[in-house]
Amino acid sequence: MGFETLAIHEGQAPDPLTGAVVPPIYQVSTYAQDGVGVPRGGYEYSRSANPTRTALEQCLTALEQGTAAFAFASGLAAEDCLLRTVCSPGDRVLIPDDAYGGTYRLFARVLAGWGLGYAVAPMSDVAAVREELAARAVRVVWVETPTNPLLNIADIRALADAAHSCGAMLVVDNTFASPYLQQPIPLGADAVVHSTTKYLGGHSDVIGGAVVVADAQLAARLAFTRNATGGVAGPFDSWLTLRGIKTLAVRMDRHCRNAARVAQWLAEHPAVAEALYPGLPSHPGHKIAQEQMRAFGGMVSFRLLAGAEAAVRACSRTEVFTLGESLGGVESLIEHPARMTHASAAGSPLEVPGDLVRLSVGLEDCDDLLADLRRALPA
Ligand SMILES: Cc1ncc(COP(=O)(O)O)c(C=O)c1O
Repeated sequence: MGFETLAIHEGQAPDPLTGAVVPPIYQVSTYAQDGVGVPRGGYEYSRSANPTRTALEQCLTALEQGTAAFAFASGLAAEDCLLRTVCSPGDRVLIPDDAYGGTYRLFARVLAGWGLGYAVAPMSDVAAVREELAARAVRVVWVETPTNPLLNIADIRALADAAHSCGAMLVVDNTFASPYLQQPIPLGADAVVHSTTKYLGGHSDVIGGAVVVADAQLAARLAFTRNATGGVAGPFDSWLTLRGIKTLAVRMDRHCRNAARVAQWLAEHPAVAEALYPGLPSHPGHKIAQEQMRAFGGMVSFRLLAGAEAAVRACSRTEVFTLGESLGGVESLIEHPARMTHASAAGSPLEVPGDLVRLSVGLEDCDDLLADLRRALPA
């Protein structure tokens, strides 16, 4: 079945008792059992499994073409659980030189203390990644594509080959693309992570995360760790995310259309040093993005010739773009990564330039978005 059909129906058959066309919110912690050790339908306690969460997980599995999916309380809870499932203290992970600041903080400030080493590599340069892999043993190659906030593109198929040939696994953070635009598992990734807070939820009303895995053995190990550590998505959050997913395809089409116009407009603006958007033919990852993505997404970043203070000023001048962190909702957002979402990467190899502004281009009338940016940018 097609993507849109799966998004609306997979895991969401009408309720057998009432015919309700939307999965009920099973706001429940525990379940009556049919005998000692005989749970009904596999449900015994909602940390282990909950029917609303199951519906979300079945849908996510289908959308990413994986074997199983696990919904978490946040994207970072998903990342942490996956890493502590597949890595042991003493292992090393190869991480991008450009990634979400919170992901970097998890590696540098939490998992490093637990004994997980990391090295930084430019994931858009497959030869450099191969060199790193040849130099030292690596358990996981961690990739974001497009990256947050510089919108670099990594070649998923080539990195999967490189990782597998050295006995490493490939994890792709697919938050910026969403499964509508890009499906890393068929391209060779072993696991996909999401902040479902973003495009999957789509309405800036829920924090959530997910891991989708390619193989059943990893699924069993992850199910064990998640149950043992407990960072699960609650029933109402699962329901909100499922509701968002039903319209993912139509939302993404409009996000992409508006973002392409905004990126082109920025590329021609005299105050802009560089517009960063994988849909621009000048983008170094444009060709790979064209091959592995359906379209180029709703995120656009740009650098201002006038420098960091001008970037901060531009962020506080918009009226339609709301100044705020996060992304992927129906409303447009603007932010200054160096002082906001990526402040935790300051002084690290992942530090982002101060003259950078990041836009999450929403679903408003694009003429209004361009007029807003025209007012906010230096003349
Ligand atoms: C690319 C990416 N991955 C992961 C996360 C973390 O997700 P959450 O905020 O849901 O924990 C974010 C959050 O902004 C993100 O942008």
